[in-house]
Amino acid sequence: MGICIFGSLNMDLVVQAPRLPKPGETLSGSKFETIPGGKGANQAVAAARLGSQAHLFGRVGGDGFGQQSISSLRSQGVVCDDIAIDDSTHTGIASIIVASNGANQIVLAAGANGQVGEVDIDRLQNKLPGMSALLLQLEIPIDIAIAAAKAAQAAGVNVILDPAPAPIQFPLEFYRLIDILTPNQTEAEQLLGVEIHTIDDAIQAAQQFRQKGVQRVVLTLGEQGIVVADEQGVIHWPSYPTTVVDTTAAGDAFNGAVAAALDRQHPWTTALQWGLAAGALTVSRSGAQPSLPSQTELFRFLQSLP
Ligand code: RIB
Repeated sequence: MGICIFGSLNMDLVVQAPRLPKPGETLSGSKFETIPGGKGANQAVAAARLGSQAHLFGRVGGDGFGQQSISSLRSQGVVCDDIAIDDSTHTGIASIIVASNGANQIVLAAGANGQVGEVDIDRLQNKLPGMSALLLQLEIPIDIAIAAAKAAQAAGVNVILDPAPAPIQFPLEFYRLIDILTPNQTEAEQLLGVEIHTIDDAIQAAQQFRQKGVQRVVLTLGEQGIVVADEQGVIHWPSYPTTVVDTTAAGDAFNGAVAAALDRQHPWTTALQWGLAAGALTVSRSGAQPSLPSQTELFRFLQSLP
């Protein structure tokens, strides 16, 4: 079948630091790297490394970062024929600080991601028939993400949305277009206007998303695992053991792996296992795309579990 990914490409400008800085504080960091990232591109690489045909739709600027992103994606097997080069702006930039405990802070300059528009939807519509899923995130204009979801629903293609970064306003009509919603704790709190402190809070939040019209909800809670609300009910799954080096792209790994498993006709529970395993492997390594696991690594990891 195959997966369409409609969303962002960034160049990540990454500095390692002993800890995250306080507001107004200047900290001395250590290593600096430019690493291909962006939630859309990361999800595409995650799915491609796990054996799915991943077809990425998005925009880069007419600069070296754009070329670097595309050639890196091609080398990972991502289909890049529908990535437009927009000479009017720069490639999306993510300025990332990674602390020694693996936590990160990210500030985005959208650049070409902010220009994704109707013309990109037209290209997407041509490729959707026969695909198993459309993966969406929110580093592109939200009205265009909604249009992409409508196109997928019309084509009978499942919509998987990672609502990251969470917008201030999330139109209610969007919920009814989503088959699988994968917010993290912060995003769920922002979208619902609630605080999540406990697993019970997370269970209630997941149920609220279901009441808004989402088919399946997976609330990702980092080292506390996931809370899944679906047609069977609500359940908490603990996370898999790992050593956290850098949490960047953990959510992208999860989404790409879930989509890849479903694309390969695996059951929903297997897809969740793939998502958890991909997240655990990704946080154990540095960077966005370089940290995403291959199929061999993922299977070996799952087999090593007690
Ligand atoms: O999810 C991780 C990604 O978020 C990074 O690669 C960065 O580009 C930001 O988009």
